[in-house]
Amino acid sequence: MTDETVLAAVRQFSQSKMGNDETGHGFDHIQRVVGLADRIGQSYPDADRLETLTAAYLHDVIDEKLVADTAAASEEVRQFLVGQGFTTTQIDTIFLIMDNMSYHKTLDGTAKPLPLEGQIVQDADRLDAIGAIGISRAIYFGGHFGEKIYDPAVKPRTEMTHAEYRNLNNETIINHFYEKLLTLKDLMNTTAAKQLAEHRQQVMLDFLAEYKAEWNAEA
Ligand code: ADP
Ligand code: NI
Repeated sequence: MTDETVLAAVRQFSQSKMGNDETGHGFDHIQRVVGLADRIGQSYPDADRLETLTAAYLHDVIDEKLVADTAAASEEVRQFLVGQGFTTTQIDTIFLIMDNMSYHKTLDGTAKPLPLEGQIVQDADRLDAIGAIGISRAIYFGGHFGEKIYDPAVKPRTEMTHAEYRNLNNETIINHFYEKLLTLKDLMNTTAAKQLAEHRQQVMLDFLAEYKAEWNAEA
C-alpha cells in the first residue's frame, strides 16, 4: 500500500469517529490540523510525513474530552493501525505523540518530550486554537458547556492544575484567552508555526480590545 492509500483509510477512520462532536473538536478541526501539519512539515524534510499526518488525523479520537473510555478507544485505534500495515515502531511513535501532545499534560508537567513529528502536530493543533478560528472555537466550546461570555468581576486564573482547567464554574470565555489562548504563541515548537502564530495572535488581541471597548460603550 502507498502512503496515500493508507492516509485515505486513516482519514476515513478519523471521520467516522469525529463526525458528531459538538465541542469544536469535529472533523473540520481535524482537517485543519492535518493541513497545517502538512504545511509546517514542508519546512522539516526529516519529519516522517506518514507518522505526522496519521497522528494529526487521530489525535483527538482517544482524547478524554471526547471518549469516556480512553483505553478502549486506544485499543481500537491500535488494531486499526495494525490492519493498515503500520509497524510496531510506527504505532508506538504515533501513540507517544497522541498521549503527550495535549495542553493539559503540559499543565501537569507529565508530558514526555515529543519527536519532531509530534512537535509539528502539537503546533498545528495549537494554531487551530488561536486566531479567527480559535475565537470561534472558544465561543462554541464555552456555549456548549454553559460558560459566561464575559464578567469583568471574574479575574483570569494564573496557575492552574488540570482539574482546575477542566472546572468550568466561574470560567468565562474571555478569560480563557488570557489563561490559555494568548500563551500558545510562545509555546510553539517550530519556527514555521511561530511565524504563523504571530498574525493569529494579533487577530485575538484586536478582538479582545474591540470587545472590551464595545462592552464599555467606548466604541
Ligand atoms: P487540548 O486538546 O490541547 O488539551 P483543550 O481540549 O483544552 O486542548 O482545548 C481545545 C480547545 O477547546 C481550545 O483551544 C479552546 O478553543 C476550547 N476550550 C477549552 N477549554 C475552554 C474553555 N474553558 N472555554 C472556552 N473554550 C475552551
Ligand atoms: Ni485537536
